Amino acid sequence: MVVSSAPGKVYLFGEHAVVYGEPAVPCAIERRARVRVEERDGDALRVHAEDLTLDGFTVEYSGVADAPDVDVSESLVEAAVGYIDGAVAQARDAADRPDAGFEITIESEIPLGAGLGSSAAVVVAGIDAATRELGVELTPREVAERAYQVEYEVQDGQASRADTFCSAVGGAVRVERDDCRAIEEVPNLPFVIGYDGGAGDTGELVAGVRALREEYDFAAATVESIGDVVRAGERALSDGDLEELGRLMDFNHGLLEALGVSARSLDELVWAAREADALGAKLTGAGGGGCIVALDETEGAETALKYTPGCEEVFRAELDTDGVHTESGGDGTQ
Ligand code: PMV
Repeated sequence: MVVSSAPGKVYLFGEHAVVYGEPAVPCAIERRARVRVEERDGDALRVHAEDLTLDGFTVEYSGVADAPDVDVSESLVEAAVGYIDGAVAQARDAADRPDAGFEITIESEIPLGAGLGSSAAVVVAGIDAATRELGVELTPREVAERAYQVEYEVQDGQASRADTFCSAVGGAVRVERDDCRAIEEVPNLPFVIGYDGGAGDTGELVAGVRALREEYDFAAATVESIGDVVRAGERALSDGDLEELGRLMDFNHGLLEALGVSARSLDELVWAAREADALGAKLTGAGGGGCIVALDETEGAETALKYTPGCEEVFRAELDTDGVHTESGGDGTQ
């Protein structure tokens, strides 16, 4: 039996534009998905998943999903099942054990489909645990590459390496096409996350931006401007200039709004944080609903968000410098 965990993430800058070759800077946060894997006889899978949303989500299936008792949309459930199947296929391939069967238990502190990289964290932790259970040790970069293949397939080719690389290596990272690197020397980033209780459909939102970009030159230019914001953000990050980072987050949110991927609920959370004097605030991830991230060293944004109608949950999140790791089993620990 092996248990591995991997962190979720926020996008400090660059979601959507990263799909078209601009750089992005996601940051891992201290909310993790834990996957426990035990090999079982036969080639069937048995999966138990809990708490994939903050409200709780259980799906149990052997190979084929039975109608699970869940309060999230069917497409999200299908995607969750697809991610788990994909992680298992990668582990079977890495270990050259195409018929290996597994009992898998997933626990996640990361809301599903809310822009915090829940699927990437589950896939990364799942691949790590399942390969170790079969006696194969992959490096975090190898896990990231395999996890990207899974996301790419489940999301019909509309995925960047940002989520999976960030979850596998932890900390703040920079991703530009297949050039993925860790950013060293990051200042303390006082993240406050607000969650509207909803979720966006990543595939649909990415397709919407793609269509706008094809139709309007100014939409294509907006995507390029996000790239410029990211490059300025990298400089502010290396200077440790939190005020500049906040201003650039505000700018990044405005450009995402122009591309049609925000939502009224997200804008309301962003404005609640700004009016409480956060240094900056933006949506994180695909958008459409889910989470915003604000930068605030004081209690202001957290308190304001708590009292904002439509804000289901608010929490502070530290940067998590720990990527994927084995919590027990595999190498004989614990
Ligand atoms: O909402 P998330 O965490 O799945 O992030 C999606 C980020 C996009 O840039 C919109 C797509 C991608 O794969 O990079």
